[in-house]
Amino acid sequence: MTKEYNIAVIPGDGTGPEVVAEGIKILDTVSAKCGFKLSYHNYNLGGEHYLATGELLPDSVIESLSRKDAMFLGAIGHPDVKPGILEKGILLNLRFRFDQYINLRPVKLYEGVETPIKNKGPKDIDFVVVRENTEGLYTGAGGFLKKDTPDEVAIQESINTRKGVERCVRYAFEYCRKRNKEKKLTLCGKTNVLTYAFDLWERTFNEVAKEYPDIKTDYANVDAICMWMVKNPEWFDVIVTDNMFGDIITDLAAMIQGGMGIAAGANINPSGVSMFEPIGGSAPKYTGKQIINPIAAILAAQVMLETLGEEKASVMIENAVMTVLRNDIIDVAAGKMGYTTSEVGDLVKGYIIKV
Ligand code: IPM
Ligand code: MN
Repeated sequence: MTKEYNIAVIPGDGTGPEVVAEGIKILDTVSAKCGFKLSYHNYNLGGEHYLATGELLPDSVIESLSRKDAMFLGAIGHPDVKPGILEKGILLNLRFRFDQYINLRPVKLYEGVETPIKNKGPKDIDFVVVRENTEGLYTGAGGFLKKDTPDEVAIQESINTRKGVERCVRYAFEYCRKRNKEKKLTLCGKTNVLTYAFDLWERTFNEVAKEYPDIKTDYANVDAICMWMVKNPEWFDVIVTDNMFGDIITDLAAMIQGGMGIAAGANINPSGVSMFEPIGGSAPKYTGKQIINPIAAILAAQVMLETLGEEKASVMIENAVMTVLRNDIIDVAAGKMGYTTSEVGDLVKGYIIKV
């Protein structure tokens, strides 16, 4: 029997729908080629829907999403909605409700893509960040005292549980072993200042490391990681870190791999429903212009297939993307590609059909 996957598609705001359309174009091409089937189920979530209905992520939608095999997300973010509402109400809510405790962000400089780092090339920039995705400063723990008075106090707490840290660290060790590159896992923390949170991280990391004698371990403070990422990116194989640091270092990492047009991410619950997304935002000013780069969304679809176990299809997508980046696209930045959004999708599709 043909294998069939039910994919929840959340095109979202701004340029989200444009890049998601290209992702689906590629998913359709590759699934036909590899003999499995994808059924898409569209969900109208995001800023437009919120402004029209006041609805963010109703329980009925959560229930329906929980019966899917994966979620494919475009972007969430709207210029007319106050920052925080859609992010917390939809994106973070999805990550938390589905316990997607890993945010996996591959950082790879492909041939033909320019990096702002002098004298570094594709052989130097190829690592993966495993970001904890359900704890830390993102839980919303904290509050105000004496709000709107001169004595106001704002507290935002970083929550780190032994279980939450351990499952993330363990995932990173497993991933590092499977990736089989240098087999080196670097913990990114701040043990010199955050002496509670990262003490727990470091102790957990060192304990779990004993079960992985084949993996070399390393530690660096987050500020030093930022420095090394620019100076010696070739030092990294897999980096594991908490939610906030992971958020910050992966924007830096996205820039050294060529920018937001390329960077993809996966929100993974290894035993649940995972969500795949380009890590860039909704880019409202480019909406409908067909100038945004769909490669990040196509690579998110690629990681989705890899996670679902469709290894061959995933490799096909990556190879086709590499060919397009090497041979066709002039520049990966929006408006500079030399092609429209959908033409880039067509190019990737063309190379998949050819193999
Ligand atoms: C990301 C984004 C989100 C985050 C925002 C939009 C809430 O920056 O996916 O990295 O901080 O996690
Ligand atoms: Mn971010």
